[in-house]
Amino acid sequence: MLLLITASALLCWSSSLAGDRPNIVVLLADDLGYGDLSCFGNRSFSTSHLDRLAASGARLTHHVAAAAVCAPSRTALLTGRYPVRTGMQESRGGPPVVRNVFGAGGLPQTERTFGRRLQDAGYRTQFVGKWHQGWSCRVWDDQCHGPREHGFQTFFGLPLTLQEEEDVDPPSRRERDGPFVKHVLSEVLRAGAEAGDGSKGSCERPSATKLWHLWLDMTRATYYDATPRREWWGHTLVMDKFLNHMLVRNGEIKSWPYQLVGLTQRLLDESQRFIRGQAARGDAPFLLVHSFLHPHTPLFTAPVFANASGHSRYADNVLEMDWAVGQLLDTLQEAGVADNTLVYFASDHGAHLELVGRDGQREGGTNAPFAGGKGQGGAEGGIRVPAMVRWPGRIPAGRAVDVPTSAMDLLPTLLDAAGVDDGDEDTVLDGVSMLPLLEGRSDAPTHRFLAHYCGDDIHAVRYAPETELGAVYKLRLAVPRYPDPEVEHCGVQDGLCSCYGEDVLWLPTPRLYELTTDPAERDPIPESDPRYGRIVPKMLELLKQHRQNVTVAPAQVARFELAAVRPELVPWDQLGKFRGLEWDMHGLDDWNEFIAGQTCPASGQGVSEHCVRH
Ligand SMILES: *[C@@H]1O[C@H](CO)[C@@H](O)[C@H](O)[C@H]1NC(C)=O
Ligand SMILES: *[C@@H]1O[C@H](CO)[C@@H](O)[C@H](O)[C@H]1NC(C)=O
Ligand SMILES: *[C@@H]1O[C@H](CO)[C@@H](O)[C@H](O)[C@H]1NC(C)=O
Repeated sequence: MLLLITASALLCWSSSLAGDRPNIVVLLADDLGYGDLSCFGNRSFSTSHLDRLAASGARLTHHVAAAAVCAPSRTALLTGRYPVRTGMQESRGGPPVVRNVFGAGGLPQTERTFGRRLQDAGYRTQFVGKWHQGWSCRVWDDQCHGPREHGFQTFFGLPLTLQEEEDVDPPSRRERDGPFVKHVLSEVLRAGAEAGDGSKGSCERPSATKLWHLWLDMTRATYYDATPRREWWGHTLVMDKFLNHMLVRNGEIKSWPYQLVGLTQRLLDESQRFIRGQAARGDAPFLLVHSFLHPHTPLFTAPVFANASGHSRYADNVLEMDWAVGQLLDTLQEAGVADNTLVYFASDHGAHLELVGRDGQREGGTNAPFAGGKGQGGAEGGIRVPAMVRWPGRIPAGRAVDVPTSAMDLLPTLLDAAGVDDGDEDTVLDGVSMLPLLEGRSDAPTHRFLAHYCGDDIHAVRYAPETELGAVYKLRLAVPRYPDPEVEHCGVQDGLCSCYGEDVLWLPTPRLYELTTDPAERDPIPESDPRYGRIVPKMLELLKQHRQNVTVAPAQVARFELAAVRPELVPWDQLGKFRGLEWDMHGLDDWNEFIAGQTCPASGQGVSEHCVRH
């Protein structure tokens, strides 16, 4: 009897909730700068659709990403946690982010993203676009790090990220690298055939070993003279085309390498179909994450957007993205769900300032009025992002939220909006719901204190004292060491500031700024100023507490065996889809000879630690 009552009470409760729960659309831009949108102060061109979104909801003018590069900042957004808690921070000595689709590092399965939490609460969930949180652990498409094991029922997009096309490489490099690609393919195919079910590569399996060594040698041979930096994890764009350029639906490769032409439209179409389908069913709320490839390089648009901005290729890309946002908003409207849908838009971090095209045109955005950019953990330009949230009837139109909020707040905000309390007491969340702030019920920042990480290190902290209305202080402990002090980046040659080593200057005396009056961080408050003596000890005390509160997990991609390509993760049965197999390549003989001379090294020495042992 008691059971019956409970069951029917539960039914009533859940069906009444289903009507209240909003649909959720999360729109994420890649490398978009704070100053790139007209609703955030750009006067060079007009982003009319994003302006429309901003005007119909709240603009977050002090929204802070949890990292200045994409994979960790996205982890924080998905999990509501500092990326160091999950091991997704930039690695020391390894690649800054997940580098290979066929690598084994990524967002741990123990993490519960908002996708997972909302799916468990009855939402239908889809992820479209750039994922870049890792993919698999043991075989292709176990997706232990992928979207489908992290709460998204369907996925269409890039497991990794948009990367340069092979044809931007100078022809000489293409000629030189072509044979490597061809060779790795044949080796992969052979190793795959020998492995049979493609289960485990190991040092004891000759072909897999060869592949492993080949990989090591290729990364050295093809990368070391291609760049002034000499990282073991780098490889050329030609190789990327085979290793990382695939468009995937769920676990099936649809296009390999992907075609840039029409890609924006394909992704848009996927999201529109999802919205229409879910709206037509109407029996459960939906969550859509549309993770744009724009305006990351390579810059490409449909012909109609070429030169549309009258400004630059970069701006043309921003406008194509803006148009796609407009299309998605229109689709919500046409499907009759716009009024019951919460839409969040943000960039993953600041614009990439180092980028310059071969014709000399700048290819990155602007972070105005802030200094610095992508890759610079403590610089405002790297972490302040344009953001906006619309929820008709709940968030007043035209509201500006000027107090500090964090991208880590998205998860608790969505759970709050959906009325989901999933009883997860074990996971520490660093984010706080922004809903009271968005709805105008509160004016308090979601964070009075934030730490700004670069990899494992904290390069700066932010503090909004309760006692000083509107003031936000930033204490910088480390700053990027710019080769040219006139440009706030690490130089076109190097491409991106690193969190470690020569690129970083640890300050003997931390620099204090007040961001509301000095957004560009031009005028450090002198040590002699009474504010320095009052504020800095407080900030250092909060930093100490923060360090005690947060356990830093080892970076997922710091170790070779997690970062590099692993033969057992290649989808053997789908290799036929790789269009590059037809390439006319030559010069394999040297390599066959070279490979024949390689043997699996004795354990415990040199490269042997790079081998997979089971
Ligand atoms: C855009 O402008 C460039 C440079 O002026 C020109 O070469 C190109 O043909 C133009 N493209 C279109 C589609 O108009
Ligand atoms: C607008 O954005 C473009 C592209 O990033 C940038 O070059 C330009 O300087 C910005 N204009 C203003 C007035 O901020
Ligand atoms: C550290 O954790 C304690 C206990 O949860 C909390 O009260 C405090 O605000 C935290 N401090 C910082 C700086 O995160």
